[in-house]
Amino acid sequence: KTLDDLGDVNGKVALVRVDLNLPMQGGAVTDETRIRAAAPTILELAGKGAKVLLLAHFGRPKGERSSTLSLSMVVGAVEKVLGTEVMFVPEVTGPVVAQSVDILRPGDIAILENTRFWKGEEKNDPDFVKAIAENGDFYVNDAFSAAHRAHATTEGLARVLPAYAGRSMQAELEALDKALGAPEKPVAAVVGGAKVSSKLDVLKHLVSQVDHLIIGGGMANTFLAAKGVDVGKSLCEHDLTGTANEILEDADKSGCTVHLPYEVVVSKEFAANPPSLRTCNVHEVAADEMILDVGPLAVEALGDVLKTCRTLVWNGPMGAFETVPFDAATVALARTAAALTVEGSLISVAGGGDTVAALNHAGVAQDFSYISTAGGAFLEWMEGKELPGVAVLEA
Ligand code: 3PG
Repeated sequence: KTLDDLGDVNGKVALVRVDLNLPMQGGAVTDETRIRAAAPTILELAGKGAKVLLLAHFGRPKGERSSTLSLSMVVGAVEKVLGTEVMFVPEVTGPVVAQSVDILRPGDIAILENTRFWKGEEKNDPDFVKAIAENGDFYVNDAFSAAHRAHATTEGLARVLPAYAGRSMQAELEALDKALGAPEKPVAAVVGGAKVSSKLDVLKHLVSQVDHLIIGGGMANTFLAAKGVDVGKSLCEHDLTGTANEILEDADKSGCTVHLPYEVVVSKEFAANPPSLRTCNVHEVAADEMILDVGPLAVEALGDVLKTCRTLVWNGPMGAFETVPFDAATVALARTAAALTVEGSLISVAGGGDTVAALNHAGVAQDFSYISTAGGAFLEWMEGKELPGVAVLEA
């Protein structure tokens, strides 16, 4: 059910789970993306006259109050994005919340305190769920990025109150369905990042789902080593070469073509524009060199692969993109994907941790069909796992 299924909510209390787990520096929010993602749902409910109580976690306070993780710190940023005043309530259950609800007028918005200050949140404790629900009439989940957690405010509340997917949740699920649920084929996945170990389940699942799997970043080195390539001093998980070979065999069986870099950018030290920088064939890496990016000809070839595809799922950078010039492959491939998307030949979906930063760095995030605000939840979705916060809405 979505907000379209809501009847008259004027004067009713909406408990709205959003993701306000925002990056902060020196007490200031440094990226408002997640607030902007939740804004349409919040404003729509307020516009319909609901009293909107926002529920969210912030950091990992492990069931204790912590002055540095109070959601009071994000109120200003939320007010700025919403363009309206927001009340802060330093509790999530009990009489203080009930009194605040009485004070709020239809259309007013309040943020309740960090739900993870209470142990019942992560335990999904039914008593905690009930106590939160007592102050609300219905529940809206607009936090896809927290939907991989079966917590009181991401899962439990949907069991005890009428539950709806918010606009951002709805958009996320629709986009992800287009990417892996019922995609237009052929489908390509780009998976990068430092370590194979953090994305083993993603890779295992993808080989049975996609036609082309492009592996970049440090994790490609483990696959190269598995194929007998000497990767010199490169970051490589040698103990995982057996697993890498199994993934390659599974890919073969399911007709998925795995693309590993055949040309790489190497250097003897990891620093910006190092003197020992050079580009070479993957079989020519010296014992004292490390692979830090995919080479330009190999990236061009990968771009040609994308030109044959209709759908792309992207997670993780192709090289050590925070350090120049090892951002080149990520930037070039992201630009090709963005151009194909703008032309209309590719549906491109990206998400997870570093990925959005990498695409922003390439200046093309806005040209992708959909950018997920999720980190861990996006990865679990790429692993083919059911997300508890989504499953309970669909039940
Ligand atoms: C995130 O930031 O990815 C989500 O808010 C989930 O946070 P968590 O990993 O602490 O559960």
